[in-house]
Amino acid sequence: QDDQFKKVISHAKEYGYVFQSSEIYDGLSAVYDYAQNGAELKKNIRDYWWKAMVQMNENIVGIDAAIFMHPTTWKASGHVDAFNDPLIDNKDSKKRYRADVLIEDYCAKIETKIDKEVAKAAKRFGDAFSKEEFVSTNPRVLGYQEQITTILSRMAKSLENEDLADVKALIEELEIADPLTGSKNWTDVKQFNLMFGTKLGASAENAMDLYLRPETAQGIFVNFLNVQKTGRMKIPFGIAQTGKAFRNEIVARQFIFRMREFEQMEMQFFIKPGTQQEWYEHWKDTRLKWHLSLGMGEDNYRFHDHEKLAHYADAAADIEFKFPFGFKELEGIHSRTDFDLSQHEKFSGKKLQYFDPEENKSYVPYVLETSIGLDRMFLAVFSNSLQEEELENGTTRTVLKLPSVLAPVKAAILPLVKKDGLPEVARKIVDDLKWDFNVDYDEKDAVGRRYRRQDANGTPFCITVDHDTLEDNTVTIRHRDSMEQERVKIEDLRDIIKKEVDV
Ligand code: GAP
Repeated sequence: QDDQFKKVISHAKEYGYVFQSSEIYDGLSAVYDYAQNGAELKKNIRDYWWKAMVQMNENIVGIDAAIFMHPTTWKASGHVDAFNDPLIDNKDSKKRYRADVLIEDYCAKIETKIDKEVAKAAKRFGDAFSKEEFVSTNPRVLGYQEQITTILSRMAKSLENEDLADVKALIEELEIADPLTGSKNWTDVKQFNLMFGTKLGASAENAMDLYLRPETAQGIFVNFLNVQKTGRMKIPFGIAQTGKAFRNEIVARQFIFRMREFEQMEMQFFIKPGTQQEWYEHWKDTRLKWHLSLGMGEDNYRFHDHEKLAHYADAAADIEFKFPFGFKELEGIHSRTDFDLSQHEKFSGKKLQYFDPEENKSYVPYVLETSIGLDRMFLAVFSNSLQEEELENGTTRTVLKLPSVLAPVKAAILPLVKKDGLPEVARKIVDDLKWDFNVDYDEKDAVGRRYRRQDANGTPFCITVDHDTLEDNTVTIRHRDSMEQERVKIEDLRDIIKKEVDV
């Protein structure tokens, strides 16, 4: 698993997808830059989302709100008071950890003990083994499970009651050690706000304290009535946007999975109070279908229904994806009730109500939210696509099997040799296709090596111009995944590519 993840990170760098930000200055932790291919892939994911959410839905419109927002926004939204992580320092190593993550990691270790027992029993009992029966009857496994439940529910309760002393007590009782040094010398647990602060205005006295937005959603809430009125939107309707968000994450590992500057794609769906359950199910279903439409394998997704809810939600579920380091949250679907709009009414003193002509009354709408991290989606797509294949001739090839609709370069045009007029014909094909697709021209190295390079870059088609092309205007088109080659007319290229890469 670790090896596969390392390969993903180095491939992303080697092929111009993701670089460490300010690398020449040794980088910034949990901040990354998208390179020439990464920027294209990211844009294609964003467009794929926008098309599904905005273009295909008459009752959903898109906006682009500013990153800076009036500071009262974050009081109203609850982020000033509730957007905190419980932190603990180790006095010896001086390292800082999220207390809840330390405890969760401890439970994950118990979980691996359960897995080991299950594997051992499966070996012993062979065909007669039923995992469900074993897990529900084996006293040792039951003991482990009970331990996990007890620990996690105590932690959840203490965090909810802001009883940070008990969180520390739990860490001490479990004898959790610093993962790096083994030291058990801990400080008290403290809450730490995740928002980045900055200042607006030049002079020190008049400058206004601002936050960089930690989610894009609030830009939608504060614009709710403007959009509803000017767009003459009728409930139920949605407002979507994509854009940067910032969080001063403490546990910032795992490449672009958890970043300090990242991009979200969010949609707030405004509904009649009382209909939230129905819309919650609808959007869970719809969003999962969107993921499955990319063909990355049904088994790689699962739902995780939240028991511990964020301050704004009455129901919440994650769509989890199987990353190289296991199943982790990719997207959240949240039933946010009228929490946000009511809070903004309260703090701004402005009415944020919708007049429902059918009911002949005004109310504060309820909100169903879908929220996905663009960078996290990028990691899901990229890591799932990177494969090593054993070929019949005993060699291996590295191939990035990106869904064609998302691939940065749709086709590479390759003259077989750099002479006899072949480059000129190839250039002409590039000039013709580039109006519709992002295409590449490549004449360096033997054609076999060029194929491999394009495979590793995720390009779905290679188009080779050879001497026969000069005679009959046909070229060889090679498919990345099957490596099959066919002979086609130059004039048919556009349609062949379009069929595969269009949504
Ligand atoms: N408006 C609701 C909201 O922001 P969230 O669960 O905090 O909910 C939604 O975030 C999504 O944003 C997550 O599912 C994840 O994909 C992405 N996300 C959150 N924090 C992130 C981070 N530090 N780096 C990358 N993506 C992040």
